[in-house]
Amino acid sequence: MALSKHSVRGLVAIAAALAIYGCAAGDGTTIVNGDALRNYDAPENVGDWLTHGRDWGEQRFSPLDQINADNVSELGLAWFDDLETMRGVQATPLVVDGVLYNESIYNIVTAYNGATGEKLWTYDPQVGPEWARLACCGPSSRGIAAWNGKLYIGALDGRLIAIDMATGEEVWSTQTFEREGLLNAYSITGAPRVYDGKVVIGNGGADYGVRGFVSAYDAETGEEEWKFWIVPGNPADGPDGDASDSAMEIALPTWSGEWWRWGGGGAAWDSFAYDAERNLVYIGTGNGSPHMWSIRSDGEGDNLFLCSIVAVDADSGEYKWHYQMVPEEDWDYTCTQPIMLADLEIDDETREVLMQAPKNGFYYVIDRGTGELISAETYVSENTWASHIDMETGRPVLQPGAHNTTTPHLMNPSWLAAHTWHPMSYSPLTGLVYLSAQEQPDIYAAQEKEDFTFNYHRSNSGQLRGNMPELRAQLAEERAAKEKGYLLAWDPVTQTEAWRVPYDHPGSGGVLATAGNLLIQGTIDKTVAIYRADNGEKLWEMEIDQAPIAGPITYMVDGEQYIALNAGWGGSPVYNLGPFTTSTAKLLVFKLGATGVELPPAPPPSELPRPPFLMATEAQVARGRDLYGEACERCHGPNAIGGVADLRWMTPETRAQFNEIVLEGILEDKGMIGFADTLTEEDAAAINAYLIARANEDYSDASAGGHAQ
Ligand code: HEC
Repeated sequence: MALSKHSVRGLVAIAAALAIYGCAAGDGTTIVNGDALRNYDAPENVGDWLTHGRDWGEQRFSPLDQINADNVSELGLAWFDDLETMRGVQATPLVVDGVLYNESIYNIVTAYNGATGEKLWTYDPQVGPEWARLACCGPSSRGIAAWNGKLYIGALDGRLIAIDMATGEEVWSTQTFEREGLLNAYSITGAPRVYDGKVVIGNGGADYGVRGFVSAYDAETGEEEWKFWIVPGNPADGPDGDASDSAMEIALPTWSGEWWRWGGGGAAWDSFAYDAERNLVYIGTGNGSPHMWSIRSDGEGDNLFLCSIVAVDADSGEYKWHYQMVPEEDWDYTCTQPIMLADLEIDDETREVLMQAPKNGFYYVIDRGTGELISAETYVSENTWASHIDMETGRPVLQPGAHNTTTPHLMNPSWLAAHTWHPMSYSPLTGLVYLSAQEQPDIYAAQEKEDFTFNYHRSNSGQLRGNMPELRAQLAEERAAKEKGYLLAWDPVTQTEAWRVPYDHPGSGGVLATAGNLLIQGTIDKTVAIYRADNGEKLWEMEIDQAPIAGPITYMVDGEQYIALNAGWGGSPVYNLGPFTTSTAKLLVFKLGATGVELPPAPPPSELPRPPFLMATEAQVARGRDLYGEACERCHGPNAIGGVADLRWMTPETRAQFNEIVLEGILEDKGMIGFADTLTEEDAAAINAYLIARANEDYSDASAGGHAQ
C-alpha cells in the first residue's frame, strides 16, 4: 500500500499524458469494479476518486502533483454550485471519468461535468423533512458509493438506493431497517461502501435508543447478504439467526441488567475499511444506549462491541477479531471515526496496520490481520478519561473519577470528541497522518437508574441535568477556557506530534494530502487553507464565509488537476461561536490559473422571526402533526411549508393570538374560519407545538433563502 516517491511521480506523468490525449469528461470508459479499486493509482484511475476514502484503505492521499507547493499560489475558483442550504454538508464527492458526483442534504445527488460545473442530472430521493429529527447533527450524509455503473445512496430514512450513474434513474431500493416501533430510531448518515460487489451500510441512532447493526447487500440486486448486530439483544429471545450469532456469544457475558430495553447502542454510523487481500471488513462501532453505564449495564462489564473495531469476513459477515478501545463505555465516546489502513515500518519490520483516532483522544495503531494493539498514545494536552493504554492487556488505565456519578464533573475529551468523523489523511511521502483535532470538554453527571425514563424518539442519554448549579457554573467556566482546535500532523510510527496549526475554535474540517506536498483543509476561520504537508507552512488561503467540514478531494480532467470540497458548516456542535454565517453551503472547485469566478457576497442577516424554543413533548408534537394534517394542511401546505400563510414564520403577535385565530375565528374576514366546533384548546396547543417544531427544523435554512423555504 505504501508508494515510493519515485513510483508516485512516474504514475502521475503517465496519467497526465493519458488525460491530455485520452478521455474527456464522462466518456464512461472506467468501470468502477474490483480491478479499478485494486489499481486506484494506475494511470487510468489516478485522476478519479472512486470510493469514499479514495481507496479501500481510506488513506485520502492523492499522487497528483500538478498543483504543488511551488505553484499553489496561482490557485483560483474554477466553478461552484450553490447548494441552497444552511445545514452542514458533510459529503466527500466521487469522480469517475471527469464526472463529479456530489450529495447534498436530504441525500440529493447531482452529477456535474468536473471541468465546467455543468449539471448533468439530479436525483432527489424525497426524504421526508421529519427525518431530520432523528439525526443528531442535521439531514446530512457523508457520501455515496460507486460500483459497476451504479451509485449507492444510504438515505436518511433507511433506504439503500441504487441509481444509474449515467442518468440518475433509480435501479433498486431496499429498506435497511424497520421504521416503526420503540427501538427503531435509526437513521443513515454514513457513506455506503462497495467491497467486491457487496454494499455495506451502517446506521445511527444510539442516542435515541437502538440496537446497532451493519448489513451487506448484493450491489446488483439489493438483496441482503448478511447482517451483523453490534450488541446482544434480549437473551430470552435466543440467537438472531444472523452472521453475528457467534460474536454475540462473546459479547453477551460482558453485559448486565436489562440493556435491551433501551437498545444497547453501538451504532456504526460512519467508518468502514476493507482489506481486499484478507477479505476483511473493518467496522468502527459507536456509543452505548443509554450513554450511562450505570443505567445501561448496572455499571458492570465491558459491554462488547461498543466503541470497538470489529473485523468480519466480507462474504459471510462472520466475526474474525475485535479490539475494544473503550470498555465500560460511559461518555458517549464513539469509535466510528475514520479507519485507515497503511503499511508502516515499525522496529525494522513492515507492519500491515489499521489506524484510528476515535473520540477519546488516543491514536491507535493495530495489526489489521490479528487485531493486536501495536501502540496507542494520547495527543490531547489533558486526558481525563485514561492516563495511558496498558500494552500488556490492551486496556485503558482510567483516570480516578472518570466514570460518571450524580456529581457533575468535567471530561476532556467529551462526547464532542478530540476528533470526530472529519476525514483524516495519511501521506506515504511524509509518513504523517493529518487530522482535525480539538479539545472540547463537557460536563457529565449520571441519573440514578430508578430516575431514568426512556422516551420514544427522544435523546435518551441518562444525563442528570441542572443539579448542583454552583459547581456546574464553575465547570462551565473551565470548559470555555479549555476549548481549542488544531490541525494535527502526527507520526504514527513514533506516536508523536510532528507539528500543529492552531485555530481559535474547534470545528475545522476534514483533510487531504497530495504528492504536491499539499495539505488541504476547510477551517473554522471561514476559509479554505492549503499548507505544506511536510512542515505545515501556510501556502494559500481563501475567505469563503463558510467553514467546510467535509473531506476535500482532488481529480484530473483533460490533463488539468482540480481540488473540490463541500463548504457548509454544521454537523457537530461548537459552543461559543454565536451567529456564524449568512452564506449558504456551496460545492467549491479550484484549479491553477482560474480567474473571474467570484462567490456572491454574504446576504444580510435574516428578517424572519426566530421561532420560540420547543417546550412540548414528542407526543404532543406527533399529535399536532396528525391534527395539522387533518385540519390545516390543505390550506397551509404539507409540512407547514407555504400555503395561504406560512405558519412556521408567525410573528410573536400572531403567536400570542393563536387560540383566538384558530378556535374563535378572529381572522374570519380574511378566510381563516374558527375551529372551536371540532378542536379543543389542547388540540390547538398540540398543533402549535408541531408548528414550533417545524419552524425550529427549518429556521436556519429558510432565513438564508435555502432548501426548505
Ligand atoms: C380553508 C382554508 C384554511 C384552513 C383549513 C385553515 N386555514 Fe388558517 N388561514 C387561512 C387563511 C385564508 C388565512 C389568512 C391568510 C392571510 O392573512 O391572508 C389563514 C391564517 C391563519 C393564521 C394567521 C397566520 C398569520 O401569520 O397571520 C393562523 C395562525 C392559522 N391560519 C392557523 C390555522 C390552523 C392551525 C389551521 C388548522 C387547524 C388552519 N389555519 C386551517 C385559511 C385556512
